[in-house]
Amino acid sequence: MSPVTEAPAAVKLTDRINRIEPSATMAAVAEAEKLRQQGIEVVDCTAGEPHFPTPEHIKEAAIAAIRANFSRYTAVGGTLDLKDAIIKRHSTDFGSTYKREEVCASVGGKHALFNVISALVDHGDEVILPVPYWVSFKDIVNYAGGTCVLLHADEEQSFRVTAQMVERLITPRTKLIILNSPSNPSGAVMSPADMTEVVRLGYERGIWVISDECYVYLNYTERNFSAGSLNEYRDRFLVVGSLSKTYAMTGWRLGYTLGPSAVVSAVQKLQSQSTSNPTSIVQKAAVAALNGSQQCVAEMRGEYIRLRDHIVVGLCAIPGIRCTMPEGAFYAYPNVSALFGKGGLRSAADVAHGLLHKAHVATVASEGFGTTEHVRISYATSMESLNKALERIRKYVQTL
Ligand SMILES: Cc1ncc(COP(=O)(O)O)c(C=O)c1O
Repeated sequence: MSPVTEAPAAVKLTDRINRIEPSATMAAVAEAEKLRQQGIEVVDCTAGEPHFPTPEHIKEAAIAAIRANFSRYTAVGGTLDLKDAIIKRHSTDFGSTYKREEVCASVGGKHALFNVISALVDHGDEVILPVPYWVSFKDIVNYAGGTCVLLHADEEQSFRVTAQMVERLITPRTKLIILNSPSNPSGAVMSPADMTEVVRLGYERGIWVISDECYVYLNYTERNFSAGSLNEYRDRFLVVGSLSKTYAMTGWRLGYTLGPSAVVSAVQKLQSQSTSNPTSIVQKAAVAALNGSQQCVAEMRGEYIRLRDHIVVGLCAIPGIRCTMPEGAFYAYPNVSALFGKGGLRSAADVAHGLLHKAHVATVASEGFGTTEHVRISYATSMESLNKALERIRKYVQTL
């Protein structure tokens, strides 16, 4: 029986489900997979996840939890041990002072974001979203009934987002500002000063700020920073974090929200009527990750820096490609617009298509991230794969 891919026309789906689209990243992954199934060797630079295995001590904690029959429901927002571990890690690293009622563990950072946005955004509300944006922000806001107001960050300024830029977009309907530093897809990092100014602006204007800090430990600038340390503005912002990228735990699904208890309890209420608690065993593993040695995080970070430097230098050496130096996360976001007009290429989607089908390098076209001139290249892969990708891209560009 062939798989059902589309609902029959007669099925009347809800308006809210029709307001969202499947993730552009997932579509790119699926297209690369089709080629692989035809026996073609594809260098995959689509992955939004670490190429490292989960560290041993974290796996051991999960195995111990299974053996100890830690297999029942837990409190909806996570065990007290887990909440304490999240609070302690954040306070040690960023000087925050959250309490148990201000933290909720969820089934990944995406789930945490979905819950927070559902709790804060209503029909008719506007949400200021810097571009380029991670694909899911727009769809989650749309699902909630809100409207995204896009803030186009300037590539020449390394995609910087300032309070002045945000302020220009504020209207009486503005409910929320979403920040994501380090950013997926650009790798841009907000300076502590810029982040503080935006959070302060939100506070003064009565507008919520969500700081998505899923890549906060993959910040390659000298000063790592979390909005969570801005204690004086705490009534108006939420931090969303995740263990996915920090500890190479994407499949385990553990994220969290830190913020005012009124919002966190709304998040827990929604979670109590949907997923309930994150997986009990994963919670034990998460406690080991957060409370254990952070050496593994430092080692992975060091390797990402090495890979980033290599891919950016390699890309910039290819005529027709220029690339802003990403300061965090594990993506390069090269501008490929100088290739438009060559070999029939007219868009970033055409370039990504050509790279996949002619060079066998899978990337993600930037249209899904809100820009028109880039492709996203994940460098969370081996140096060998990166070299292969660079060589194939270089040869492909030469043929245009
Ligand atoms: C910016 C950003 N936020 C949140 C997430 C969600 O990650 P997870 O749900 O695995 O914690 C991702 C994943 O790619 C991301 O890139």
